[in-house]
Amino acid sequence: MAKPAKTYVCSACGSVFPKWAGRCEACGEWNTLEEQIVPKALPGGLKDGARQAGKIEFVGLEGISPPPPRVPTTIAEFDRVLGGGLVPASVVLVGGDPGIGKSTLLLQAGAALGRAGREVVYISGEESVDQIRLRARRLGLTQSPMHLAAATQLGDILASLAQFPKAALVVIDSIQTMWTEGVDSAPGSVTQVRAAAFELIRAAKTQGFALMLVGHVTKEGNIAGPRVLEHMVDVVLHFEGDRGHQFRILRGIKNRFGATDEIGVFEMTGSGLSEVANPSALFLAERRGNVSGSAVFAGLEGSRPVLVEIQVLLAPNPGGSPRRSVIGWDSGRLSMLLAVLETRCGLKLAMNDVYLNVAGGLRVGEPAADLAVAAALISAASDVPTSPEMVFFGEVGLSGELRQVAQTELRLKEAAKLGFARAAAPKRVAGGTAKISVPKSLGLVEIGHLTDLVGIIA
Ligand code: TYD
Ligand code: MG
Repeated sequence: MAKPAKTYVCSACGSVFPKWAGRCEACGEWNTLEEQIVPKALPGGLKDGARQAGKIEFVGLEGISPPPPRVPTTIAEFDRVLGGGLVPASVVLVGGDPGIGKSTLLLQAGAALGRAGREVVYISGEESVDQIRLRARRLGLTQSPMHLAAATQLGDILASLAQFPKAALVVIDSIQTMWTEGVDSAPGSVTQVRAAAFELIRAAKTQGFALMLVGHVTKEGNIAGPRVLEHMVDVVLHFEGDRGHQFRILRGIKNRFGATDEIGVFEMTGSGLSEVANPSALFLAERRGNVSGSAVFAGLEGSRPVLVEIQVLLAPNPGGSPRRSVIGWDSGRLSMLLAVLETRCGLKLAMNDVYLNVAGGLRVGEPAADLAVAAALISAASDVPTSPEMVFFGEVGLSGELRQVAQTELRLKEAAKLGFARAAAPKRVAGGTAKISVPKSLGLVEIGHLTDLVGIIA
């Protein structure tokens, strides 16, 4: 047999390199490269006389395959992110920071499925059975049927899973604690995590259960992050949130069976995660009117409109280089907006530190937030509050012009639903969004250029 080749794999992003280095060239993390031995074996079909190569069957694009069947978990926020429920024999990776609530979420989802009459297996490599039972009591789930075990040895787990041929869901918490004897490296290493995931995925595909893997996101390089598994699984979900806030957001990153940009919103309470059906009301709950530097953004998360408050604080910094500190938005985009406001609207902001915060701990990724951020900046600079009954959305171009964004109607509808009376949005262009319907209770303030916005606020 050929000598096995050594490669080095980054435990944070999964990139593979022929040589070791202190820093991963792909993701920039330090001390994350670890050795991986790859046997140099030829694919079976290429070896002389190894086996008779079979013929694969080719088909055309016509013809319709039925959509995959779904098993709803009955937790609506969870099902939405999955694309309508669990797909049998699919593999879902749930990543997130330690302590964010992954175990809680999956225990609740498993229990809900159990109550709906499905067989659920929950295997924890992190906590003892007693600890999980204690949590179940706190969550009021002790009556939900479930097969619970604490185990980390993969051989034992696979052999035991065969007892449950009808299992609808198997939860593995977490994949980083699993290890297989066949692989000669420590649990949590890239090689172990991949090998364990591979075996579990194979079991899911042959036995037909949906598999949920918990993966901790870690900054340290000694545990492989969930990214090294992303290409192996069907669905990747991130459970995110700020531990200082009670909101938790389940975000679809990859989904072979549905849309990827959906979110599910939860609130961490004393008795577990509760669903938040109306996130806008929650994100705006603590808003105080009549303060400068605040503007409400009518945003979109997947197919869902979400209203959030953008807050800006300007602090004078006459000497040195001013600070730009951003939480919940893209700092590059803030710099661009500041430059546009300075050069196109004559706003003087260079002598100020700028702090920007998306209230409630949500991360906004849309360029549509430009107009709301600009409104908050203008309001802070002029010390005039924006109208408390107005929402803002629209993308800003480099010359200060406003550009249309997707789903204008949906944003307007949500704003009207929450009692807002006016919406500042990009000017409608003939042929484009000219024909959108505007809710009766809402006045549309059309903005062609950022200077118009200055006129409205300051
Ligand atoms: P956990 O699900 O253990 O996180 P993970 O599996 O992602 O590491 O959740 C841990 C945190 O959640 C813990 O700090 C306590 C908090 N929590 C509550 O606030 N309420 C609850 O009902 C439960 C079970 C946990
Ligand atoms: Mg956990």
